[in-house]
Amino acid sequence: GQPQLHYRDQSLYLEDCHLTDLARKHGTPLYVYSKGAMLDALAAYQRGFAGRRVQICYAMKANSSLAVLQLFARQGCGFDIVSGGELERVLAAGGDPAKVIFSGVGKTRAEMHQALQAGIGCFNVESEAELEVLSNVAASMGLRAPVSIRVNPNVDAKTHPYISTGLKGNKFGIAHEHTLATYQRAAQLPGLRVVGIDCHIGSQITEETPFMDALERMLDLVAAIEAAGIAIHHIDFGGGLGINYNGDTPPAADALWAKLLARLDARGYGDRQLMIEPGRSLVGNAGVCLTEVLYLKPGEQKNFCVVDAAMNDLPRPAMYQAYHAIVPLHQQPGAEGTLYDVVGPVCESGDWLGRDRQLAVAPGDQLAVLSAGAYCSAMGSTYNSRPRPAEVLVDGARAHLIRAREGVVELFRNERLVGG
Ligand code: LLP
Repeated sequence: GQPQLHYRDQSLYLEDCHLTDLARKHGTPLYVYSKGAMLDALAAYQRGFAGRRVQICYAMKANSSLAVLQLFARQGCGFDIVSGGELERVLAAGGDPAKVIFSGVGKTRAEMHQALQAGIGCFNVESEAELEVLSNVAASMGLRAPVSIRVNPNVDAKTHPYISTGLKGNKFGIAHEHTLATYQRAAQLPGLRVVGIDCHIGSQITEETPFMDALERMLDLVAAIEAAGIAIHHIDFGGGLGINYNGDTPPAADALWAKLLARLDARGYGDRQLMIEPGRSLVGNAGVCLTEVLYLKPGEQKNFCVVDAAMNDLPRPAMYQAYHAIVPLHQQPGAEGTLYDVVGPVCESGDWLGRDRQLAVAPGDQLAVLSAGAYCSAMGSTYNSRPRPAEVLVDGARAHLIRAREGVVELFRNERLVGG
């Protein structure tokens, strides 16, 4: 099951917080995150890397709430960012800009300028065109931008096609066979300083092999680049380690890294500065989304359980047919239950949170959608003019409101009627 989540006297708790109480106090839908689960997930990486030079850069797109960033910043984490907005969040949360790496295929000049001014640690560059622009922007500021080139190791991450990024035919990274030429170009540009190499092969990876394969290919490239006289100071292996949603069995972070480091040592690269960019594996199983049953709607072919959370609040099922376990906040021992599709109020057939779930529920009961710490709230929208849910971070028996529920005022604050 999900760490820190358990029933006591038939009532669901996250750490020592009674979730029904939180739902009553803050309303639903409500995101609740466990500080302990996040720190434990981070600790698994830290154990795996004990005694090594490693910078863990939390891929904050997974969950960019300020209090979550603050938690990781206080543990010494850096951040993998993909926009100027994310950089502002890191700074607002007290993160160290020197530990920020900037990924993404479409950085604007304005974002490059902003990141250079903040003094970020590294730009992960994804194309030759971007190299030229970054060099120009940096040179115009009298600076040299620290760069890594994101290479595409062409390994199959064996995950959902939308979140597999390391294969040919993907928009990400520089093809393996063009890497050396791209590094040679980077080394000539006046506004750049080559510092490392980067890859990211996909997300929700539950096997060891893709990581091992990517490592071998990366080290082949490092050897070729250094043979050409360009020093690679750090190696960034990206993120991508999966979590257990529905019986998935990804390797544990510490065990996986023990293997990868053994291979790194065997190839003579054990002393290198390393970077990683984990997102989902640090926060995914630290969160739940609480929702209330509005109506039960028996049907000819299906029974529907209509709840007050929807695809705008938690888009993964609608977008990827992703599975999230759904459990009651209060268990009813002995109740048999009925098979339901759990659906939201949004006017789309794709608005479902779970299909064919056995639940013993009545209107007014509350449910928890599990494994909702990563890519859930962060991917939410206000579609159907639904204000964003509140968020709570629990720490033992203490619950901190880390995001107030949005009001309708915020929904159209920036809109204007046309004057007559
Ligand atoms: N680094 C880069 C360059 C990335 O693009 C990503 C995720 C990460 C690191 C973090 O990967 P993670 O450790 O979280 O797997 N919305 C999708 C996932 C999209 C992942 C995008 N990139 C989902 O809900 O499954």
